[in-house]
Amino acid sequence: MHDAAVTIKLINTDPREYSGNLLVYLVEENITDIASDAGKLVNRALQQVSATGDFKGKKEQMFLFYPELMQYDKASEVQAKRVVLVGLGNPDEDINARREQLRLAGGAIAKQAGTVKARDVLVILPKNFLLAADEIAECLTEGLLLGNYRFDFYKTPAKEDAEKSARVESFLLHSAGFSSKAVREGMHRGKALAEATVAARDMANQPGNVWTPASFAEYAMKLCKKGRLKCKVLDKAALRKLGMGGILGVNQGSVLPPQLVILEYKTEKKNPTLLLVGKGLTFDSGGICLKPPAGMEDMKYDMCGGAAVLTAMQAIAETEVSGVNVVALIPATENLSGAAAFKPGDIIRHYGGKTSEIINTDAEGRLILADALAYGIATYKPTAVIDLATLTGAVIVGLGHHYTGLLANNDQLAAQLIDAGAQAGEPMWRLPLGPEYRKQLDSRVADIKNAGSDRSGGTITAACYLQEFVGETPWAHLDIAGTAWNFTEKSYIPKGPSGTGVRTLVACLRQWKPLKQPSEKKQ
Ligand code: BES
Ligand code: ZN
Ligand code: ZN
Repeated sequence: MHDAAVTIKLINTDPREYSGNLLVYLVEENITDIASDAGKLVNRALQQVSATGDFKGKKEQMFLFYPELMQYDKASEVQAKRVVLVGLGNPDEDINARREQLRLAGGAIAKQAGTVKARDVLVILPKNFLLAADEIAECLTEGLLLGNYRFDFYKTPAKEDAEKSARVESFLLHSAGFSSKAVREGMHRGKALAEATVAARDMANQPGNVWTPASFAEYAMKLCKKGRLKCKVLDKAALRKLGMGGILGVNQGSVLPPQLVILEYKTEKKNPTLLLVGKGLTFDSGGICLKPPAGMEDMKYDMCGGAAVLTAMQAIAETEVSGVNVVALIPATENLSGAAAFKPGDIIRHYGGKTSEIINTDAEGRLILADALAYGIATYKPTAVIDLATLTGAVIVGLGHHYTGLLANNDQLAAQLIDAGAQAGEPMWRLPLGPEYRKQLDSRVADIKNAGSDRSGGTITAACYLQEFVGETPWAHLDIAGTAWNFTEKSYIPKGPSGTGVRTLVACLRQWKPLKQPSEKKQ
């Protein structure tokens, strides 16, 4: 959606010959010599600032200088306009923490470049950072591109700002002696993941009058034109035929038709099929059970689960993930009130025949997900299912904005997701499920009701509702209501939508391990 794409390339020429805007060296804590090929000037600067104690290489610490001012001879040693030393901190013992250190440094570099309005940046990869070259390149690329993110689509630029964009247009990575092949591979993955995450942020930032259910379908169709994915969109008539009363019920108050977007990524038949489902509520007013106006504008973000699933498919195709087949379903609609809207007391019939008594029209996410889950499982017979949804305010009460809520009927699937989340810097916390919670949804007149009579255990009862539609299929639900926006602010995670879930999903699928049958499990 951004007009000018940001580029990132690998170079291997002498960094001293780079005559661009910002040359960056990453420095571990208490190291006073970067490398001989950094040149005398850079090493001398580092020794001086270390000696004075002004720069120690602590996490995200920076020292910016102008080589021009420090060079005595005309045949200058460093051609760059500015040099910045960026601290990495001490390499943490934990490999995931080291990945995060690089992303944070990447984000900090992008911020610094924005401040000095540097449109091009050359970053020299750190040596001896205790990570494989491709991982270093991947995490750094993610940090740089994600930290460079802005959403200024609707801001009319002031005249004096016209030619100075605060965004970097071109990043260069210098392989610093690492294998170019490994660096290029990592950079390619990092770029695909960051671009997918940025696309998810853009979709969320777009207002409800622009990003509509049809936008999901259009984006998916465009992705398919690139070849690797197959796309199908079920329209209102098709949803009626299939009996998807959940999506249709929620959609009743909207003038925009609902969409069920389906994407397929196929590798080999022998590989397991995994199903992803994302809540694509492009605006949630609460319906007849109207939400209070304060903060209601944030409900344009209620499509973040759908955005994460859609753009994860983009990254899966772009990086040609192997070993798994993936199907993605995005049920998309608005939830509005009005004469035609569904109302408390209504009974709807989901795909597959189960009936649901509507207690609260604001508990709409579970209704559209139930149809998608039941349909996806019946149609594609997946080995496992993962759904992502901004499902409950209760998850924010419980976990705040720092952990995604994870609920699952399978321990191994839950463990794989927790691992993938830790790797991607998107932590998750598992909550329980159980019949005692499911009981809160017993209805006198239908198979289930869509909300309990009180708010207790709100995230869990919402997941219990979904569980009703997955049967025995291994399934995990990620409640991203707290993390899809206002997520823990970091140099590479801005205020507003975070694009959470995209990188975790791709990491999970990339390293997919077959789930053992319960009988094979060691006791
Ligand atoms: N989209 C909301 C959940 C939400 C709330 C996400 C706040 C992010 C921030 C969801 O559709 C909803 O309204 N859930 C209700 C369920 C309740 C009526 C049982 C909730 O959480 O209050
Ligand atoms: Zn709602
Ligand atoms: Zn909602």
